[in-house]
Amino acid sequence: MKKTDNQMLVIFGASGDLTARKLIPSLFNLYLANQLPENFAVLGVSRSDMSDETFRDRVVYESEYLTKKIKDLGEDKVKGFAEKLYYEDLGDSYETDYGPLRKRVEALKEKHNTSGNIIYYLSTPPTLYETVSQCLSDVGMNTQNNGWKRLIVEKPFGYSLETAQELNKGLHKYFKEHQIYRIDHYLGKETVQNLLVTRFSNSIFEPLWNRNYIQHVEITNAESVGVEKRGGYYDKSGALRDMFQNHLLQLVSLVVMEPPIGADAEEIRNEKVKALKSLRIMTDEQELFDHTIRAQYVASKIDGKDVKGYREEDGVDSNSTTETYAAIKFFVDNWRWHGVPFYVRTAKRMPTKVTEIVIHFKKPHHQIFKGSEMQEMDNKLIIRIQPDEGILIKFGVKVPGQGFKVERANLDFYYSSLAETYVMEAYERLLLDAMQGDATLYARADEVEAAWEFVDPILNYWEKGKDVRMYGYAAGAWGPENADDLIEEEGYWRNPSENLADDPGYCVIC
Ligand code: BG6
Repeated sequence: MKKTDNQMLVIFGASGDLTARKLIPSLFNLYLANQLPENFAVLGVSRSDMSDETFRDRVVYESEYLTKKIKDLGEDKVKGFAEKLYYEDLGDSYETDYGPLRKRVEALKEKHNTSGNIIYYLSTPPTLYETVSQCLSDVGMNTQNNGWKRLIVEKPFGYSLETAQELNKGLHKYFKEHQIYRIDHYLGKETVQNLLVTRFSNSIFEPLWNRNYIQHVEITNAESVGVEKRGGYYDKSGALRDMFQNHLLQLVSLVVMEPPIGADAEEIRNEKVKALKSLRIMTDEQELFDHTIRAQYVASKIDGKDVKGYREEDGVDSNSTTETYAAIKFFVDNWRWHGVPFYVRTAKRMPTKVTEIVIHFKKPHHQIFKGSEMQEMDNKLIIRIQPDEGILIKFGVKVPGQGFKVERANLDFYYSSLAETYVMEAYERLLLDAMQGDATLYARADEVEAAWEFVDPILNYWEKGKDVRMYGYAAGAWGPENADDLIEEEGYWRNPSENLADDPGYCVIC
């Protein structure tokens, strides 16, 4: 196990939902797994008037996210964790004198002997990232002469290429790039990391991973929920900004990238940036019209229950043109991927929650088993990110008996079969990595900008282009019908179920 330096974690925006829902439960799990540094303290910072005790009650003792764990564990175990948590009220604004905050940090550093190493976690709206960084710098809290300082920032990282560049510039005034950790929780998912391992630690996939053998690549991210309580935020964002620009393009970069020289953070991130830069940017209106589809869910009944349409959701403009469904077809301009179409879609209010990558292989160049059903079926490699995490290969087998009748069978691996293995939650893994100074699973400035470079023209077209349409789909359906036209040449979307193998595959029992 890698050693983690003694340190302090200062969370800005500590009274918010993310702290209670993700950050504290992840830290609690790390504590239970003895993964926290020997000397460690957390200081929650925000604009609410709270004592240390109230903060501990809120995020630990009375937290709905820890109820079950707390019930199962002895009081001492929980207390041992809660007593590492403190709270500091910043007053009315994040833009204030951080002198008192600095004193509090110094006092906790003495009390817990945490040394001068500090992570600042910004769980605030992005408009405050530069402000907080500047205020920290004003009182010398960003200097590294007495221990390292790191900054973790949440998404959304920018609203467009221009705003992302401004944000990067703003942060770089106070922190060096190697100190900045841009979180993308998809990179913390075990199955996303496994993509690198599948590709680069096996010799059976990589030789086929190119235009000679791959027909097309399909990525689906579906959520069954709607915008929940986040209508206000979502209506200014939309599916493309909320999911595609970050999480899905991260998946794309891992599928597209060339093998890195090694597993070092910079080597991997260099290759991901190259991959993102090789996505063909669409600027032609006809191409944007033909290759992009946006839609909104409309009211429907699911399991006999009325479900609101997007425009009826709280916080959403009743004439909103924000998409809750986005499907994009694009190409990658490099040697490996020339001519291979990528189809990526993301949406809310789909029939189920599922994220998967499907690599469709080309059919054999010369078909000898004529008339067999396999002629119509390609080989597929399905990488299931969630749920039912695993990998499935679909391939042809001979049906026993006379002649050559071919059926399709499944070859699969499920993470759940590793019964003894504890799979870390994304935030747990990412927090521990940042504590250990490993930025492999965090997005670098140029990576984020390259993703925006691809997305910006689509957003601009949707906002101002000619003949742009907004389609509707009934909540609980697999998107608008015409989304099938996008993929038509290659067949149809695989509309996956919760289970990785939604067909049994071929088998003869007796
Ligand atoms: C977040 C988006 O980044 O990811 C949400 O803002 C979305 O809208 C969520 O629901 C999905 O994450 P996961 O891990 O549940 O797939």
